[in-house]
Amino acid sequence: MNWGKKFWKVCAASIRILFREGTRSYLRQVSEKIRRREFTILEPKVPSNSVLGSPFPIPSDFLLRQIGGPGMTPEIYLQSGCTLSHQIKQGMHVAGRDFDFKSVLDWGCGCARVLRWLCWPKTKCRFYGTDISQEAVEWCRKNIPFAKFERNNPLPPLPFPDGSFDLIYGISVLTHLDEAFQFAWLKELGRVAKPGAIIILSTHGDIFGQLFLSRLEYERLSKKGFLYTKAVEKGGVHGLPSFYQTTFHTRQYVENKWGKFFTLLLYAEHGAKHQDLIVMEKAKFDKTGMVGHPKSYVHLDLPIGHIEDPRLNTVVSTQQLSVRGWAFRPSGGTIQLDLFIDERKVGSLTVDANRSDIAQNYPTYPSANCSGFSTTIQINDLNAGIHILSISETSNSIPISCIHFQTWTESLR
Ligand SMILES: C[S@@+](CC[C@H](N)C(=O)[O-])C[C@H]1O[C@@H](n2cnc3c(N)ncnc32)[C@H](O)[C@@H]1O
Repeated sequence: MNWGKKFWKVCAASIRILFREGTRSYLRQVSEKIRRREFTILEPKVPSNSVLGSPFPIPSDFLLRQIGGPGMTPEIYLQSGCTLSHQIKQGMHVAGRDFDFKSVLDWGCGCARVLRWLCWPKTKCRFYGTDISQEAVEWCRKNIPFAKFERNNPLPPLPFPDGSFDLIYGISVLTHLDEAFQFAWLKELGRVAKPGAIIILSTHGDIFGQLFLSRLEYERLSKKGFLYTKAVEKGGVHGLPSFYQTTFHTRQYVENKWGKFFTLLLYAEHGAKHQDLIVMEKAKFDKTGMVGHPKSYVHLDLPIGHIEDPRLNTVVSTQQLSVRGWAFRPSGGTIQLDLFIDERKVGSLTVDANRSDIAQNYPTYPSANCSGFSTTIQINDLNAGIHILSISETSNSIPISCIHFQTWTESLR
């Protein structure tokens, strides 16, 4: 918009106010607004140090790398955290539980990639985070005021009494610990969980084995169900101790070994971005024995995918929203997607557009060839403000990808 047009828009807006109210005080208000440059006629700018729907600062590059290596950009940190928080909530929903907890622990919280999204919508829940990284805990204490943070040692115990939490989750933590650490932590998480509590953990499942392991390593994984590989030979990953490497789990292993600690409710392949999402319950007993113990768990084979447009923090001023991205199921098959804005279904589509770039990134999966989608959604009934767009497969509600965007109207603030 050029300056001439902007000027006339300000004039027109001022005249509208004058006609509507016609008072001297409004004239004073308008001139005060002009003096303070408070008109929102220009496209609003999102402050660079905050994020739509998550008004907390972005961690330093060092902390971002500590949780995700050199590829962890602020945008990926935000979008993946937003998606993971919704995957946790919907994963619980599929497992038959609502997100109505009194006390939640994010074990291995890092720099709060997931936790930062959980205070919205407003809740009375008490949130806690722990991590071995002193830098991450200090950053969280300073920047995430709605939760309490503690540093824990590489091995248990945690600084909490028995039965403290009714939800504990650990995203991409057991993906780095050897078996001795893993069993020690499964026992400890069981100690600090209340009877009937939900425990959610993620693993590097089959897709990681296929993409990142040699044939020999993959065979070892398939045989034992678990593989701990030295990702970094000398020293640790970005300031973390040298025990912190990379592990892979099969579903069978999780079922057999983790099933000794907790009751499995849901195993969602690729349910935590590319990682597998496992929702479990700590057994609850009454006089008659174990309560509500399900005989089998829900198994889902979800697509992986990503919303590329709109991008995080996009401010949309039109009546329509263009949505573009990709999704495919590594095991193949056609994908029907549902699109939601603020949990209201706004459209559905079949994924079938050619995406040679995605096929190049995932050469072992033929289904990646036709993984593209794009569509346009009418958004003229949306209020101005922040909204969340998510995509999920029509057959279940666990989102594949989520993104925040903002709508605005040409009006005076
Ligand atoms: C890949 S990062 C994931 C961080 C966070 N959960 C997320 O999803 O962004 C793994 C985290 O686990 C933490 N960690 C590793 N071993 C741990 C342990 N024994 N107890 C608690 N946290 C641990 C690391 O410091 C790191 O922050």
